[in-house]
Amino acid sequence: RVTGKVRLRPDGTENTKIPTGQVEVLVKELEVLNHAEVLPFQIDDPEEAALVSEDLRLKYRFLDLRRPEMIRNLRLRSQVANAARNYFEENAFYEIETPTLFKSTPEGAREFLVPSRIHPGEFYALPQSPQQYKQILMVSGVERYFQLARCYRDEDLRADRQPEFTQVDIEMSFIDREDIYALIEGLLARVWKSALDIDIPTPFPRMPFQEAMDRYGIDKPDTRFAMEIVDFSDVFSDSDFKVFKSVIAGGGVVKALNAKGLANLTQGQMTGMEELAKSHGAKGLAYIKVEEGKWKSPVTKFFSEDEKAALTERLAIEEGDLILFAASEWLQACEILGRIRLYAANLLKERGDLVFPKDQFNFLWVIEFPLLAFDPEMDRWYSSHHPFTAPVEEDVPLLDSDPKSVRGQHYDIVVNGVELGGGSIRIHQPDVQRKIFEGILQLAPDVVQERFGYMLQAFQYGCPPHGGIALGFDRLIALLCGAESLREVIAFPKTAKGADLMAESPAPVDPKQLRN
Ligand code: AMO
Ligand code: AMP
Repeated sequence: RVTGKVRLRPDGTENTKIPTGQVEVLVKELEVLNHAEVLPFQIDDPEEAALVSEDLRLKYRFLDLRRPEMIRNLRLRSQVANAARNYFEENAFYEIETPTLFKSTPEGAREFLVPSRIHPGEFYALPQSPQQYKQILMVSGVERYFQLARCYRDEDLRADRQPEFTQVDIEMSFIDREDIYALIEGLLARVWKSALDIDIPTPFPRMPFQEAMDRYGIDKPDTRFAMEIVDFSDVFSDSDFKVFKSVIAGGGVVKALNAKGLANLTQGQMTGMEELAKSHGAKGLAYIKVEEGKWKSPVTKFFSEDEKAALTERLAIEEGDLILFAASEWLQACEILGRIRLYAANLLKERGDLVFPKDQFNFLWVIEFPLLAFDPEMDRWYSSHHPFTAPVEEDVPLLDSDPKSVRGQHYDIVVNGVELGGGSIRIHQPDVQRKIFEGILQLAPDVVQERFGYMLQAFQYGCPPHGGIALGFDRLIALLCGAESLREVIAFPKTAKGADLMAESPAPVDPKQLRN
């Protein structure tokens, strides 16, 4: 603590690099409040900080958080939470807290379990989301609920996933999908304006799941770059290249994309691509490299002139291009090329051939997801989103005859290839909900009763039509901060192995504690 007189620095001693570089303090009193050890890493120099290993930063998180970028991120997080709360307040929402000691409903992600002391052998589970409570609140007549809700999922972690994370969780009664789109567009426009002073255009474009898969091979397309996937099933249905012909004859498709300018990949990078394709079930990854005016490829010798002409035209093939093919069942072919597209984009980014402006945010609603997906191993259907999602009205008759064609009233909000949030209009009729549980998902009636009995019971007392959505709050802040990892926007995050390196958790407990 210093007391003294602030005065201008003498001529020639100013420092233009720091905000206080024009002044100095003539000290009258000086008191040392506390002593500081030598720092394990430099915290006031961003370049130095970038070289420090993340584990070291996380172990000394109390010092890491002193870095200006980290303080900026935490401040922005707080401001956005405030902006969101104000928006919801203006729109007549109630913020309601729901329990974080819930019960196990093993339908979604793996859960964290908490043993009960008073009921030996019984467990709470930490909620994956407040989904069930928020729907119950609709039965209670709340009509407009929101919460900055802590959620827990015991999943394999990645840069965009934490075992505990925060959702901006929303539920509303007497609404349809359009109401949710408008509400969220308003919220995000408010947030982008207040945090970044950017006017984002609304309404956001919408794309059906089928189209997203067809063109981008993923349900969260990054539309900042094209490199779109093109279907060639019509072209190769009678090809001399037997691999393509037979896949099409078997009901599959042949698709391709043009990785522009990547003909000069190294053998290692080509192998990397092929392995990536194979890890997603590809039998091979046929390719064409266009170099020195020639097509270099293990497969073009089988292609007719018409086939080559169709490729050239639809893929706008030029010198330096790399064309990649997937022949497979539709969804798999899309997914393979979707991965390849992102891999190629990364290579282009590393080379500096693909650059995204910092202030470019491509918002997109992905809609009309299939309600159900089939698990061949378990030989049963499961919900693509969750079992409370309502089918699209006109598809209801298909539930029995053709379950895979039933679309759900489910929507995802996607930004620059990041799934920011997802939600749906819910089933509000107890008989329809029971049919989904028992008739479609094949849950035994006693299991349904045990897990969801209270919900079905609540629905019998006049449940309004309702729906909602949850945004990943950490992902939202990471997007606004331009952060690569959620760990940059969470004060005390976990590592990819689920550990808190500072507090050293998880940790063993005393056997005595387990006995009590
Ligand atoms: P969903 O499971 O799609 O939907 O989750 C909504 C959003 O939460 C974020 N998110 C995560 N963020 C960080 N780490 C994680 N491990 C993680 N998992 C999910 C994502 C995701 O889009 N109850 C439904 C919502 C609803 O139907 O209203 C739900 O939880 O950004
Ligand atoms: P093959 O006839 O199996 O030796 O394959 C010839 C070329 O086609 C190789 O480059 C393979 O990688 C590729 N290939 C084989 N099967 C497929 C497939 N299903 N999709 C895309 N390329 C394939």
